[in-house]
Amino acid sequence: MADMPIPADIPLPLPLPAPVLAVILVALFVLHIVFVNLMLGGSLLAVTFEILGLKKPGYDRLAHHIAKTITVTKSLAVVLGVGPLLAINLLYTIPFYSANRITGAVWIMIIPLVTVAFLLTYLHKYTWERLARHKAIHITIGAMASLLFLVIPFIFLANVNLMQYPDRWEEARQGGFAAVLFMANVIPRYLHFVLAAVASTGLFLVWYLTREKAQVEEFPDESRASLRKRFYTVALVPTLIQFLAGPLVLITLPPVGLSGLMLAHLGAAVVLAAMVVRWMWLEIQEADNTPALSRRFWHIVIAMGVVVVLMATARQLYRATALKDFQAQSRQASVERQKKVAYYQAHPPAGAPKDPLEDIPGYGTFKANCMACHGLKDKLVGPSAVVMGQLYATPDGADAFVTWIRTTQNPRRVKAADEPPMKMPAYGPGQLDEAAVRGLHGFLIEVAKPKP
Ligand code: HEC
Repeated sequence: MADMPIPADIPLPLPLPAPVLAVILVALFVLHIVFVNLMLGGSLLAVTFEILGLKKPGYDRLAHHIAKTITVTKSLAVVLGVGPLLAINLLYTIPFYSANRITGAVWIMIIPLVTVAFLLTYLHKYTWERLARHKAIHITIGAMASLLFLVIPFIFLANVNLMQYPDRWEEARQGGFAAVLFMANVIPRYLHFVLAAVASTGLFLVWYLTREKAQVEEFPDESRASLRKRFYTVALVPTLIQFLAGPLVLITLPPVGLSGLMLAHLGAAVVLAAMVVRWMWLEIQEADNTPALSRRFWHIVIAMGVVVVLMATARQLYRATALKDFQAQSRQASVERQKKVAYYQAHPPAGAPKDPLEDIPGYGTFKANCMACHGLKDKLVGPSAVVMGQLYATPDGADAFVTWIRTTQNPRRVKAADEPPMKMPAYGPGQLDEAAVRGLHGFLIEVAKPKP
């Protein structure tokens, strides 16, 4: 756990009690994820049906119908996404921003990726007729949008996953985004999410395309009820696969956040999901003569909604448990810092005995940059200041010292066999300019001088 940074929390109260914020976070997240699912599922189905439409034109018209819904669901997904982001910022400021810092470059890529995906979605929708003779181009546009919609959730997932494991931040920082992506259960969760997207879109289309008002002449030889079955099947198959994907998510979840309450939520969700499967199955089996949506449809929708709420709550419970200790330590660090500040304000150090090193130039720089790893006389992670001063006391010492700080290559000191293979970070001119580095050298030489 030595690598785990514990940054101090912001010493300001939350604007609302934490449990209220947690409820807001879950509620807004559920709204957001429903529309994200419809956006992604719609995009995948539109492209799939458009491809099927190359053989059977009915599918092409169906795909066009679906494509028209995506631009609406995506707008709602984005707008509703701001809510959970704000709530998570407040509740988990330090872990969330730490994860953002680690994945920084990829994290910010969400903006251009989303922008391009949206433009492609509009292009796909509005060029349906114009590109009717250039289907390959048109399908490629839709497929590119789908691909982007598939990539973007990876970034979000990787981030909210990473924030839960502060003890792995250092590893993530060194391994880059690839390491973050393969950390814990990002991949199983992603699979779980994509399946949910297709299932919820299937259910949405049962309603959307077989309402009384919907004008669906795509399949003249097919009744509304049989069209409905088609989409029930689209919803049922991925839902069945979830019974494998869900447990996979659970067993790949690091145990730090597991709790009885969380598992109870998951259990309840599984029971409800099994009921949903049964109802969907009955809807598909039933006679072909009901033109209107059945009551059972609404039972399915409500049960699915409750499943999503239970799952999202379980997630929040997991996160809260996983981060409990870290947040407590972070608050503690904040309190300690406040105390120190208060102490020094109350006791201005004027009369205090002066640190004898304070007069040596370079001491401030050393304290600010090096003392975390180098003691004055004690060996910490790296050698002591005294030893370092002796190493670089040669005539070419100052220049060699600058080279070391810039590159940390070719150390003068031979490592003891039992030392950990730690590397020292190099400092570029942006972090310490030439004068500061030479100042540090001067300081080390001074400290290493034998005292009378
Ligand atoms: C994150 C920890 C860390 C920080 C911060 C750090 N060092 Fe080091 N330093 C090390 C380690 C570890 C070694 C041993 C590396 C080796 O032998 O390869 C080392 C070695 C050195 C050496 C010996 C090089 C040699 O020739 O053998 C010098 C000099 C040195 N550090 C100076 C500094 C100065 C000056 C700073 C501040 C600007 C600093 N270090 C900040 C970890 C750190």
